[in-house]
Amino acid sequence: MQPSAFVLFGGTGDLAKRKIFPALYNLFLDGKLPERFAIVALGRKPFNDELFRQHVKESLGRFSRREGANAAAMAEFAACIQYHAMDAGDPQGYERLRSLLEQREEELGLTGNRLFYLSVAPEHFGPIAARIRQSGLADGGGWTRLVIEKPFGHDLASARALSAALHVSFPPEDVYYIDHYLGKPMVQNLQSLIASNPVLKAVLNNRYVANVQITASETVGVEERAGYYDRAGALRDMFQNHMLQLLMMIARRAEGYDKRQVMESVYPVNRDEAANHVVRAQYTAGSVAGRTVPGYLQEPGVDPGSATDTYFAARLMLDDPIWRGVPFYIRTGKRMKEKATKIVVVFKNPLESRLPEAPARNYLIVNIQPNPSLDFRLNLSGLDGELQPLSLQPANRGEEEPEAYELLLRDALLGDPTFFAKWEEIELSWKWVQPILDAFANRLAPLHTYPAGSNGPAAADHLLAEDGHVWFETAEANPAVGV
Ligand code: BG6
Repeated sequence: MQPSAFVLFGGTGDLAKRKIFPALYNLFLDGKLPERFAIVALGRKPFNDELFRQHVKESLGRFSRREGANAAAMAEFAACIQYHAMDAGDPQGYERLRSLLEQREEELGLTGNRLFYLSVAPEHFGPIAARIRQSGLADGGGWTRLVIEKPFGHDLASARALSAALHVSFPPEDVYYIDHYLGKPMVQNLQSLIASNPVLKAVLNNRYVANVQITASETVGVEERAGYYDRAGALRDMFQNHMLQLLMMIARRAEGYDKRQVMESVYPVNRDEAANHVVRAQYTAGSVAGRTVPGYLQEPGVDPGSATDTYFAARLMLDDPIWRGVPFYIRTGKRMKEKATKIVVVFKNPLESRLPEAPARNYLIVNIQPNPSLDFRLNLSGLDGELQPLSLQPANRGEEEPEAYELLLRDALLGDPTFFAKWEEIELSWKWVQPILDAFANRLAPLHTYPAGSNGPAAADHLLAEDGHVWFETAEANPAVGV
C-alpha cells in the first residue's frame, strides 16, 4: 500500500470515537494499513497529542471489536496520531495544517498521498473542500481523496447543491461517498454470490421470482439524536441511502449491469399517488425485548407534535426486462421487534406441481446482520413421501467478520471506489424520494402508528396484501398463508 496521510475532520466526534478509530486500529492490527502512515485528527477542542492519544485509546477499549485491549499495540497505533486544534471555518487553520502535514510527511518519508475524511455536519462539506483546495492542501504531490459521510443533502435540491459545491473543488472520481451498508461483508458478497452461481443467476428474474423483500429493522429508538432525526425521519435517514443501495445491489444481479441502471429503471411514483405505494408510520409506546419504552413523541428532544416517520415501507417496480412485474418491498423502522437486515427473495408458487398438497415456496434469504448468512429454502420429500422444507444453510464461516468501516477505509486508501456510493446513484435515489417527501409535506400520505417492539404498522401488511403477497415473517409463522 502506498504511504499516506489520513486527515480526519471531526476527530473528536462520535463517529470518530465509535467507528473510525476502531476501524483504523483493527486494520493496523491486521497489518492492513500502509507501512508508512500518519493520522492527523482535527477538532476544535484543545487537546494536545498526548491527551488526544489517550482519548483514542479509551475509545478503542470501548469500541474496538478486538477483545482484551492490547496496551502495547494500542500505544504503537496511537503514536501514528497527531492532533491539530482548528476551526474548520478559519482559513489560517488550513495554512497551519499544511505545514504540519508537510513536516510529518517529511519525518515519515510519506509521498504526499492524502486522504481527507470529513466526519462533520453536511453544511461544512462544501466549504471545507474549497478551503482544502485553496490552501494547497490538495497539492501534496501524490493523490488526494475526499471521503464524506451521509447525509448527502436533505432533499434533491440540497443534494445537488452539495455535489456541485464539492465538485468545484474535487473531481468526482476523488470524492468517496460512504454508505456504510455497502461495507457490510454480506452486502459485498452479493455480487460474487450471484456471479459465481449460475443457478442463482438463472432464477433471479420475473419468471421465477414473486417478489423481493428488503428489510432493515432496528430495536433502538431515536437515541440521543432527536435534533437530527426529527428533521430527517426514516425515509431520509435510512431509505434514500442504505435501503436503495441494497435494492441496487440485489437487482443488478451481476457484473455488467450497473447500479445506476437499476435506479434509473425504477418507476417514479408521483406525489399524488404516493399513498398507494408507500407507508409511513411512527412508533408509540411499547415494549422491546421485555423493556417498556416510550413512544416517539415522548422521546427527549422530539417535537411533541412531530409528524416524522420512524418507519417507512414502499413498493418499487422496475421497468426492465428482467424484473418487470416483480414488486420490491422495502421497509425500515426504529423500535421494531428485532435488529435485522435481510433480503428475502420469494419465489413463485410451484404451480405446475401435481402433488396433492402444494409444497412450500422456495426462498433465498440473505441475512446481512446481525449474523451474516445465507439460507436457501427448498423442498425435499421425506421417507413417507411428504415434502419437508429443506434449509440449505452453509455453516457459519467461523471467522470474525470485519466491520463495514474497516473494509471501506481500506478501499479508500487503496483508491478502490467499488463499494462507495456514486453521485449519480445518490441523485437518482433523491429523485425517486423527492415526490414522496412532497407528499409528506402536503399531508398526502397518512402517518400510521405502530407499537414499539412490533413488526410495524398494519398498513404495511396491506401494501403487500393488495398484490396477494405477505411479509416473509408472516409466511414463516403460518406457511399456509405464504402459499
Ligand atoms: C445510520 C442511521 O446511517 O445507520 C442510523 O443514521 C441507523 O439511524 C444506522 O441506526 C444503522 O446502521 P447499522 O449498521 O447499525 O444497521
